This record gives sequence, C-alpha cells and structure tokens, in this order.
Amino acid sequence: MGNPLFATKSMDRLLSEAGETGEHSLKRTLGPMSLVSLGVGAIIGAGIFVLTGAAAAQYAGPAIMLSFILAGVGCVFAGLCYAEFASMIPLAGSAYTYGYATLGELFAWIIGWDLILEYAFGAATVASGWSGYLNSFLQDFGIYLPPSLTATPGTDLVFYNNRWERLGTILPTLRAHGVDPAGLQHAAGTFNLVAFLAICLVTTVLVIGIRESANLNNVIVIIKVSIVLVFIGVAAAFVLKNPEVARGNWHPFMPPNTGEFGHYGWSGVARGAAVIFFAYIGFDAVSTAAQEVKNPQRDMPIGILGSLVICTILYIAVSGLLTGVVNYTALNVPDPVAVGVDAARGGMVFQVGAHAIKLSSFLVKLGAIAGLGSVMLVMLLGQSRVFYSMSCDGLLPEWAGRVHARFRTPYISSITVGIFVAIFASLIPIGILGELVSIGTLLAFVIVCAGVWVLRKRRPELARPFRTPWVPVVPILGIIVSGLLMASLPRDTWIRLVVWLAIGMVIYFTYGVKHSRVRGAK
Ligand code: ALA
Repeated sequence: MGNPLFATKSMDRLLSEAGETGEHSLKRTLGPMSLVSLGVGAIIGAGIFVLTGAAAAQYAGPAIMLSFILAGVGCVFAGLCYAEFASMIPLAGSAYTYGYATLGELFAWIIGWDLILEYAFGAATVASGWSGYLNSFLQDFGIYLPPSLTATPGTDLVFYNNRWERLGTILPTLRAHGVDPAGLQHAAGTFNLVAFLAICLVTTVLVIGIRESANLNNVIVIIKVSIVLVFIGVAAAFVLKNPEVARGNWHPFMPPNTGEFGHYGWSGVARGAAVIFFAYIGFDAVSTAAQEVKNPQRDMPIGILGSLVICTILYIAVSGLLTGVVNYTALNVPDPVAVGVDAARGGMVFQVGAHAIKLSSFLVKLGAIAGLGSVMLVMLLGQSRVFYSMSCDGLLPEWAGRVHARFRTPYISSITVGIFVAIFASLIPIGILGELVSIGTLLAFVIVCAGVWVLRKRRPELARPFRTPWVPVVPILGIIVSGLLMASLPRDTWIRLVVWLAIGMVIYFTYGVKHSRVRGAK
C-alpha cells in the first residue's frame, strides 16, 4: 500500500456516492437551464460592472477587449476540464472531489482549503462591492447610512458633493478640481454592517432550499443580463451613428507601453487580463451543484460551458463598445458602465422629490445591486457544498455535512460559512479579498487541468460522458494561462496564499488525518 497521504478515492466509491438518494442526500431538482443560469448568476458581477473601467484606463486602453479575450480563452480551457470531471464525478465537492480521485487525499485537502479562498472570500469581496453600490444608490435619493457602518475598519471616507465617498476612490477627482481633502468632513469605517447583513440575507435563502435559491437566482439573472443587453444596444446605436467618435476613441487601439511593465502595450493587455479575470470567476461554481441536478452527466457540461461562453461574448461586446463610446482615459471610475450609458444617451434625468436621478446610472446601479446578490448566492452555495463533501469524507467534522430534514440543504455548513463570510466582508478591505480570490481560483484551475490529464493516463477506460478535446494540449494551455495570470499578481498576495495553505496544513495534520474515512480511521 502506498503513502496514505496520497490515498485516492476509488472511482467506484465516488460513483456510488453520486447515486445516493434519501433524506440525508441533497435534493435533485435542477435542469440544464437552471445550471446555465446559476453560472451566469455567479459570473456577471463586480468584475464587469466595476473593474473594467479602471483596467482600461490604467493598463490596456481600448485593447482591454483583448484582455477579455485572453482571460476568456484561459477560462474556456479550464472550463473544458471542469466539464469532463463534473460529468464524470457529479459530486458536490467539485475540484476537491476531483483531486481526491486523481492526486490523493493531501492534494484534495489543499484544493478544498484553497476553494475557501474562491468561494468564501469571493462572496465576501462581492458583499463589500455590493455595499458600495447600495450606499451610492441610496445617496442618490438623499438617504444616508451612518458612514462608519458602510466600510471596513480604517477606510477613510469624505463628504463631497453631498455624498460620502471613499477617499482613495475620489482623490483623483478632488485633485482635478483643486479640492484639498483636509478641508472636507471625514469619517472612518469601523464595521461594514451593510456587507454583513447582505451575507446574512443570502445565507437565509440558501438554508431554505436549493429550488428557492435557484428561482431567486433566475430572476436576478434576467434583470442583470437585460441591463447588460440594454447597454450593448444603446452603445452599439451610438457607435453606428457616430462612427468618427468611436474611431477616435479606439485610436490608438493599443496605446504604446510607457516603459513600465503592465502600463499599456502587450504587457498592459496581460496585466489587464489578470485584473479582469475576476469577472469570469464563478462558472466552476456550477459544478458544486452536481448532487442537486436531475441528469448531471448530460447537464453539468452544458451549465459550465454554456454560462462561460454567454458571459465571454457579453464581456467582449461590453468592453469593446465601452471604449468606443467613452475615451479610455476617462474610465477610471467606480461605475464605468453607467458612465458609458450616460455618454451614449446624453444622460436622461428623472426627478424624485428634490433629487434629480440619472436614468442610466439608476438602471446600472440597480442591475449591479441585484446582480451582485446572485454572485454572493452562488458562491456561498458552492462553499457550503464543498464543506458538505469534505465532512462526508471525514476531513471536516460530521456536523458540517448534516442535511436539514425538511429543507434538504446542508444547513449547518451554510450557516457557519455565512457567519464567517459576513465577518470577513465587514472587516477585510475589498482589494486584499479580491486578489486572494483570484489567486485561489487560479490555483484550483491549475490543479483541475492537471487532474484531467493524470486521470486520462491512469484510468483511460473510465466512462467520460463529456471529454475535454485535445488532451493534453487543452489542460497544458489551461495550466500555462492560469499560471501566467497567477504570476502577474503581487508578491503580498502570494505570501497570503502560502500562509493560508500553511494554516490548512496544520488543520489537516491535527484533524483530517485522524478522521479521514478513506484511510479507514473511522
Ligand atoms: N465574477 C464575479 C464578479 O465579477 C465574481 O463579481
């Protein structure tokens, strides 16, 4: 017998687990459309609504469209590998379970622990962004929440133009208008209560049921995709009517590199891709719903690849049109899509009491508020399902896998995850969270791509309802693109990743090795 650290879970055992039914199992209610919708629900969020503008302005210029293509192609390679595993091993643990089947228990634990960075920290990041959008939306109507309860500790807020804004975000505007921030009213963030409550709300829906969660997600997806399509329609009409303006904005398509790596030119396209990679995160979360799908072998690849392809096309269109309507130099704003609609439609305004509200930014903020809600929903869904799987294997305590008798959801896992994520979201700054999410997700992609290749070599005879094409070329390309994106993230993020994995190792060697069911300890 080999080293138990690398014990793999047999495919027969995995397939029999996948076929389990009864009151201790999750409820199978989802079809292919719900899965595509779950994917789109998780993907379209803060990335496209917030990050696109800054990435175009600072790194890539109009060539941000190429960044979206690059990151999208990298995700398609990883998505093809996820699709093979998800159709073959339709269990809620996603990459964690695939790791158990191919690389052994230690790697499985590392991936499971790493997925916390993607799903739990991902939900926290998005909750933080959501609180920013909600706050801005309320302020449009003259409603002010106590500023210290809208930001993480230490965030400097200033009152400018009748609004509380983060100093870091508004500083360039203040400088451009010759305003000295010292002369403005200041407040310091202490606890982001808005983000905290958002996570509590989403957790409640998740505990109530998978069908209810999927229904809410469907409604949100319709709203946010409609808003993205409205933007595409309005911006395309503008570009067709004013081709000379668009040509001017698209020229130079790739501004020359400033001499510094990552500032325009091809290196800027690569840096832009690393930043907006966040916008694609989420398609893999579909795979964690595998045990709640009626026909997973057929439907998982449709859900993963369908949602990814839809969002890639939408993103390329949005980024291309946005930089045609507004010059990239003017896009370093927190709400670039709203700025784009304003530029294309001349800013229609409606009045609510004493407040003049711009229709475009009203719609875009509404889309973002609803849209980010479903991202949190699917990320938290994914996290609780991964814990559920780890608990079933004995690597986490038994309570994490308990399924509610009536709701048939892993309620204790959902509630515990919800509490921790709510605390992270209210205390850790969004920038740190976001980069950790990207590095954690990319690491999972690398391992999943490697896993597909390993399993093709070791068990070529296994039935694969969906086969990744051109193995090993596609997995290798997936590893290379993900690795390059990881390499372009800052050193501090790498250090945090290593520390996080080290904490995971301590937990594994003090708890997991003693309770692992695969090792037969229990
Ligand atoms: N892709 C998700 C977003 O952009 C995480 O919010």
